[in-house]
Amino acid sequence: MINYRIIALVLSGCLSLTACGSGGGHQVDKAKLQDKQEDNKNQQEEITEFTPVTVTSLKEGVDFPIGVAVPAGNYGSSIMLSEDRQNLAIKHFSQLSAENIMKMDALHPAQDSFNFTDADNLVNFASNNGLSMHGHVLVWHSQTASWMRSFSGDKQAWIEMMENHVTTIATHFAGRLKSWDVVNEAFLDDGNYRSTGESGSIWYQNIGAEFIERAFIAARSADPDAELYYNDYNLSSSAAKLDAVVNMAADFKSRNIPIDGVGFQMHISDNYPSISTIKSQFQKVVDLGIKVKITELDIRMNSAETADELTPKIAEKQKKRYYDVVSAYLTTVPASQRGGITVWGISDIDSWIIGLYDSPDWPLLFNAQFEAKPALQGMADALAEFK
Ligand code: G3I
Repeated sequence: MINYRIIALVLSGCLSLTACGSGGGHQVDKAKLQDKQEDNKNQQEEITEFTPVTVTSLKEGVDFPIGVAVPAGNYGSSIMLSEDRQNLAIKHFSQLSAENIMKMDALHPAQDSFNFTDADNLVNFASNNGLSMHGHVLVWHSQTASWMRSFSGDKQAWIEMMENHVTTIATHFAGRLKSWDVVNEAFLDDGNYRSTGESGSIWYQNIGAEFIERAFIAARSADPDAELYYNDYNLSSSAAKLDAVVNMAADFKSRNIPIDGVGFQMHISDNYPSISTIKSQFQKVVDLGIKVKITELDIRMNSAETADELTPKIAEKQKKRYYDVVSAYLTTVPASQRGGITVWGISDIDSWIIGLYDSPDWPLLFNAQFEAKPALQGMADALAEFK
C-alpha cells in the first residue's frame, strides 16, 4: 500500500522537522521518510497490476459539490441516452455541468429565439436524482452563436444584446442552478484581456473590458441565489493570468460588483503544474475571501506521447496525481470557500482531449468500459483523508 500522505508531506516541503513540527503538526523522521520514498519508488516500478478500487460513492460524506461534465442534447454520447453515464453520475457525483448544451450557440441559436429543451431535460434529470447544476457558460468568446458574430451595432447595442442574452437565460434557470460560470476565458496567459485575433472576443472588441462586470451584474439581477464564477484555464499555472483575475475580482469587490468565486478549469497533465504552484495559486483567491471551484479537472497522462495504452504503472501515477491535486485543494481552500471539484467528463472516451492529439490518453476517472480506474480511488482517498 503506497502511503500518499507521506509523499504529500514530502511534496509540501515537510522534509525538515522544524518546518513540519511548527506548521503542519506532522513530525516526520527524515531517514524513515527516505526509506518510505525508496519503498514507494520500488513499488511504483514493480506495479504490474491495476490496484483495487473500493470506492462505493465518490461524493459520500463530502460537504461541497463533487461534479462531472456531461454530454447531452444532440451532442455525442448524450447522458440522456446512456444508462452507463446516468448510473455513474448518480452514484458518484452531486453536481452536473453541461459540457456543451448550455453554451451560447446551443441556448440562443437565433437573436429572437432561445432553445431550452435539451438543457431543461438535463436540469430536470439532475433535480430528479438529487444532483445540483452548475451552469456553463453565459458569456464566452468561443461557441458563440453565428448571429452574434455577425451582429452589428454600436457599443450600447452590443451591451443590450449581451445583457438580454444573460438576463433571459439566467432568468429561465433561476432557482434551479446552484452556480454559473458567468464569463469564461476573458484573459490571456500574459494577463492581458483576450481582444482581437483568431481566438479574440467579440464581447471585448465591441463593449470593452466592462462586458465582464455587466455580465455579472445582469446574472445576479436575474438569479440572486446562484453563485457567480469567473472561469478560466491555466489559472493553476500562470501567475500573470491569475494575478489579472485576482485584481479584477478585488476591483469588483471594492465596487460591489457581484462575484462569488473563481473557477480553475485545471486541464492539467501528469507532471505540470507542480503541487506547490497549484497550492500557491489557490491561495491567492483564498486570500481574496471568495470561493475556489475546480471546474473542469482532467489529467493528461500521455503528454509526452510515448504510451499507447493505459498501463498499471501509468494508472497508479494518475491515481497519485488525482490524490495530490484534491489534497492540495482541501489543504489550501477552507471549507467555507470550497466551490467544489468537477471533473470534465465521465469516461475517458468522452474526454475532449481524445482526438486533440495524435496519441491516446486517459484523463478521467472511468475507462472506456465505464469501469472505475485507480484515479477514482486516488480522488476518494484524498477526500476521505483531508476533509
Ligand atoms: O456533436 C456534434 C456532432 O453532431 C457534429 O457532427 C460535430 C461537427 O463538428 O460537432 C459535434 O459537436 C462538438 C461538441 O464538442 C460535442 O462533441 C463540437 O464540434 C465541438 O466544438 C465541441 O467541443 C467542445 C469544446 O469545449 C468547444 O470549445 C468540447 O466538447 C468541450 O469539452 C470543450 O469544453 C471546454 C469548456 O467549455 C471551456 N473550457 C475548455 C474546455 C475544453 O476545450
